[in-house]
Order: sequence, then structure tokens, then C-alpha cells
Amino acid sequence: MPSTAAKFVPPVHLPTVESDTKPSLMPTPIPESNCNIVSKLLQGLIQPPQEQTRLNIADPELIKEILNKPDVFQKPLPETGKIIAGGIIFLEGEKWAKHRKIINPAFHLEKLKNMVPAMSLSCSNMIDKLKCMVSSTNEGWYEIDIWPYIEDLTGDLISRTAFGSNYEEGTKIFQLQRDKVKLTLEILKFSFIPGWRYVPTKTNRKVKAIANELHSLLRGIINKRQKALEMGVAIPGNDLLGVLMESNSRINQDHGNKNVGMSVEDIIEECKLFYIAGSETTSSLLVWTMVLLGQHPEWQTQAREEVNRVFGRAEPSYEDLNQLKIEVLRLYPPAPFIVRGSTETVKLGNLTIPKGVHLTLLIGLLHYDPKIWGDDAKEFRPQRFSEGVSNATNIQSSFVPFSAGPRVCIGQNFAMTEAKIALAMILKSFSFELSPSYLHSPFSVVTLTPQFGAPLILRNLESKSVY
Ligand code: HEM
Repeated sequence: MPSTAAKFVPPVHLPTVESDTKPSLMPTPIPESNCNIVSKLLQGLIQPPQEQTRLNIADPELIKEILNKPDVFQKPLPETGKIIAGGIIFLEGEKWAKHRKIINPAFHLEKLKNMVPAMSLSCSNMIDKLKCMVSSTNEGWYEIDIWPYIEDLTGDLISRTAFGSNYEEGTKIFQLQRDKVKLTLEILKFSFIPGWRYVPTKTNRKVKAIANELHSLLRGIINKRQKALEMGVAIPGNDLLGVLMESNSRINQDHGNKNVGMSVEDIIEECKLFYIAGSETTSSLLVWTMVLLGQHPEWQTQAREEVNRVFGRAEPSYEDLNQLKIEVLRLYPPAPFIVRGSTETVKLGNLTIPKGVHLTLLIGLLHYDPKIWGDDAKEFRPQRFSEGVSNATNIQSSFVPFSAGPRVCIGQNFAMTEAKIALAMILKSFSFELSPSYLHSPFSVVTLTPQFGAPLILRNLESKSVY
């Protein structure tokens, strides 16, 4: 029995969610620590005085009103944001409605069921890797930063579920997309210099080369499937791309093959978006769940008992696991803020908002409000959701990790299914606790991530040397 692991007690200095710093749930568009001195000096010299009027909002009624008027409150995304991703998330009006209608079927529960084997395969591959590491020591436990493994898992899973039969290419696409995002964040540090992204710097050229490779890989996959569709050959219908292309071709057929659906370029952009929107967010949900379960062993045991009870049933329903996921999404919303801009002068509650105001909806603060959630708002208490979300508080529409209204996250069922499978498989295989080296620092650039990773002490539950 390993003495250190057996005696491990979370250190007293370990911050809990109660001491979570609110600023970390507030917008941090560019990480301070990543801004180099040159960029800061140049920013001071070049950036024109800030003229943008901004309003921070954490009131549930106002947030609901804003999200339910997508034509008036649109996404004021800067040009630079579009280097990271295109697709439906950036569209407005009729084009958005058309894409939403075509993409929707890919996320229907019926279709998601067909993706469960692919999701399980990705999870079991990760678990096998972790098991090997735990077994490689005689200690019966192994300390590991779980964060990169979770990031790889959600990337692998989206590659499998989006591109099924083209999984190898899908993996390559994921890697390219990841490199592109990393480099783009570098470029964004200089976004205050007009036209900076068009200057042929080494980084800009690299991003362009990656973007071209990405584009041609996706185009190759889509063209192959398009040809198969046109020739009436059955194309794999179990992946997101297959369902999306089927849905697109149905719309075209319904309109006498007049190409009213999405173009190949549109489909390419949507595929790229699946990676960004689908992997970063779900990895955030999974990693914070593991951190919280590492901190709350009683919940870990309860969740594991439930998994052992219902695992393997045709339609396993996980009550405790559901409450757990929802509480994690409340405390650590992967997208802690949503931004909108007013396109006209408009009434909002008692306020008159002029055209062109940027509104930041502070989802993180809304989820921590004691007036809504009670005095224990900052505590991890999944049982508050035992009667469902609507009974957890008197003030409705206060829980919006997936946004709300017509532009609510299209992938929420996908994300919840993925998280359920991953958590059930992890809980069955390992017990874990937070390592003393864990430093609590939720950090948001786009999604909420653990700034210094998530080191855990893992124990293989099937290993004889456990405890
Ligand atoms: C825990 C996981 C997830 C969270 C917390 C989350 C959260 C969100 C939020 C807050 C929005 C609204 C953004 C805005 O309007 O500014 C959004 C939109 C979106 N999400 Fe998710 N998301 C998750 C998983 C996924 C997954 C797995 C996919 C796809 C594979 C996905 C695809 C999308 C898309 C395409 C949109 C844009 C919808 C539209 O504009 O009509 N998301 N998500």
C-alpha cells in the first residue's frame, strides 16, 4: 500500500469553488501573461481610443430577452475571430436559419444513438492508455495531469463521430485545426494593428499553409462523398458529415435539385466548426467534473455506485451522473460569457440601448448569484438538481450554459451523451483524487480551462494493489 497515496488528504490551502475568483469567470479576451512587452508597447502607441460602449449583464430576465431576439442582438464578432472558425456560429438572418435547419438532423437523439459505439471506442482507447501507466508502477497509483488526455479524447471523439469512415483524415484535420487555433491566438495579440493578419510574417504564413491543407483535406472527403451520393451509392450515414450531407441533399431534392442547400464551401466551414465548438467545450466540462470529483470523494463513490448499478443496460439512465454534470456546468460553464451587439436602438427591460452597444452576458456570474441559487450558490451540491433544473430555483432561465433561445447550442445532446459515456467509463476503471500539486486557476480565453492543468492521483480499480 503506497503510504503517500493512502495518507493523501487534500491540502488545506487548496482553493474550493467558494474561493474561486470571480475575475476568472469574467471575459479575458487575451491572456495577460501571454502578451509580450513589445505587443503591449505597440498597443499603447497604435490603438485608437476605445470608443466601443460595453454593458455587462448578469440579470436572468435581461439575458433571456437578449437571447430571444437574435435579429436585434447579433454577434459582434471581429474579423479576426473568423480566422479561428467559420460556419453557423458566425451567420445571421436567413443564411443562419437555412444552415440551422440543415444541420439540426445531425444532432437528433436518434442519430446520436448510432454514434455511441464510436464515442465508446475513443473513451476506451484513452482508458487503456491510462491503465497502462497506472500498472507501470508497483505503487498502485499514478500521478498524471489528466487535462491533455481529456483534450485528446474529445478531439479523437469528434474525429470519429464527424468523419467515421474517414477517421484517419479526421485525426489529421483535428491536429491541423488545433495548431491553427494556437497560432491564431498568437496573431490575435497584434490584432490592434490594422491589417496585421495580412502581413506575411512567419506565423501568418504558417497559419495560411495550415488553412490550405485543412481545406483541401476536407474538400477531398466531401467531394468523395458527394460523388457517392450523386451515383446513388450508400454513404456512411452514422457520422455527423454523413447526416449533414444527406439532410442537405434532401433539401435540394425537395426544391427540384436547384442547389438551394449548402455549398461544398459551406459544408467545409461547418465541419471545421464542429471541431472547435465540439471539442473545447466538452473537454472543459469533463475536466472540471474530474477536478470536482477529485475534491468530493463522497460524490465520486455515489456516482460510481450508480454506474456499476446501471452500466450495460440498453438505455442506462444516470440520475446522479446527470445532477453531477449539471452542477459542474453551473459552477464551471465552459462558455462563461456570451457576447452580443445591438443592431438598432432598442428597449431592454427598463433600459434604452442605443445601436452598436456590445453586451457581455456574464453566464458565470449568473450561475453564482445567491439571490437565484441561495446562500450555498458557490458550493458544489449536485443534489440541488434532484428535482430537475426548473425546480432548483424560483427564477427560471437562470441556468444557461448552452445559451438559450433560437441560437441555443445545437450540440448539447451530443455533449451530454459524450460526457455521460466518458464519465461512466472513467468511474468504472479508476478512483482518483486531486494531487497536492494541483493549483486552482479557472482561466477563460474562449472556454474555461484549468490554467495549470489538472494533476490527479489515479488508481486502477481492477489492480490488486489498490489501497
Ligand atoms: C459542454 C459542451 C458545450 C457547451 C457548454 C456549449 C455551449 C454553447 C454556447 C454557450 C453556445 C452559444 C454561443 C453564442 O451564441 O454566442 C453554443 C453554440 C453552438 N454550439 Fe455548443 N456547446 C457545447 C458543445 C457543443 C458540441 C459538442 C457541438 C458540436 C459538435 C456544439 C456546436 C455548437 C454550434 C454549432 C453552435 C452555434 C449554434 C448557432 O449559432 O445556431 N457545441 N454552444
